[in-house]
Amino acid sequence: MEMPFTGPEFKAIAAAARDDLRALLGIPSHYALLFTQGGASAQFSLVPMNLLRVKRRADYVETGYWSRKAMVEARRYCEVRVAASGAASGFSGVPPPEAWTVSPDSAYCHITSNETADGLEYHWTPETGAVPLVADMTSDFLSRPIDVARYGVIYAGAQKNVGPAGLTIVIVRNDLIGAALPGTPSVFEYKVQADQGSMANTPTTWSVYVAGLVFRWLRQRGGLAEMARVNARKAARLYAAIEESRGFYRCRIAPADRSRTIVCFTLREPGLTPAFLAAARERGLVNLEGHPAVGGLRAALFNAMPEAGAEALARFMDDFAQAHG
Ligand SMILES: Cc1ncc(COP(=O)(O)O)c(C=O)c1O
Repeated sequence: MEMPFTGPEFKAIAAAARDDLRALLGIPSHYALLFTQGGASAQFSLVPMNLLRVKRRADYVETGYWSRKAMVEARRYCEVRVAASGAASGFSGVPPPEAWTVSPDSAYCHITSNETADGLEYHWTPETGAVPLVADMTSDFLSRPIDVARYGVIYAGAQKNVGPAGLTIVIVRNDLIGAALPGTPSVFEYKVQADQGSMANTPTTWSVYVAGLVFRWLRQRGGLAEMARVNARKAARLYAAIEESRGFYRCRIAPADRSRTIVCFTLREPGLTPAFLAAARERGLVNLEGHPAVGGLRAALFNAMPEAGAEALARFMDDFAQAHG
């Protein structure tokens, strides 16, 4: 933590982290990889500030809590067009491709690939033609392989699958950078950070160091294809516990759009929720409260959660349903 970021030791740590992440995701050479700051929420502003250029509008796909937050912020910089919305279905699924209208004069089309509060996830990559696809991948980043070349920008806060909060990852196609809006702080200009190896100012050295260890660990475990298999098994176990409870547990998300990392559910008897949480805690199963904006229950199955953790929760859910069903 005391290493100067300008010294050879930290530069080697950062370079190794960058190389491992590039290898894990197969990031093509015409994409910049930035280790920046401000969290994913800062990107809600920095995406329009960096990508609008001469354009005045951007498309957003509204799928839940976090995509709405991104839209609110973007409205400070441009006209936000809703390319598709899950509102009609009560945000119980990702709008199907045939329901999308992406405007050719939009600077980009923004999606939230995994809605962390609502528990729904894209299981397919949208096709937006010449309009660059921008994805907030904060909560499914590194949970599965992706084809980076399908995106203009991918961004993610580190705190789910990468490492300590503070580090924010931005992957951006080189031809999209270099014309940030006037007034964009220079440390938040993608071009400035890309040109200076994400060291235009002091990077989050500790977070980069830990992230580097995580990238190495992921590679040693077999990379993202292996993580995807493990994550699919964990999620399948919990969704099976919900389905087999014959209505004792409920998941309102359409099966095809259910998140593989965030399993959101409620109890048929919502009044039993405090008892569920207390009994779970007694078994060492914690942090199951839903997002404060949404309520209910939520199991986060990030990469660090072993399969045994999902299995323990599923068994507890079976037992609790037997005892109270
Ligand atoms: C999908 C998504 N986007 C954005 C954010 C906000 O991230 P940050 O707290 O890093 O600003 C979160 C936080 O959980 C998230 O899950």
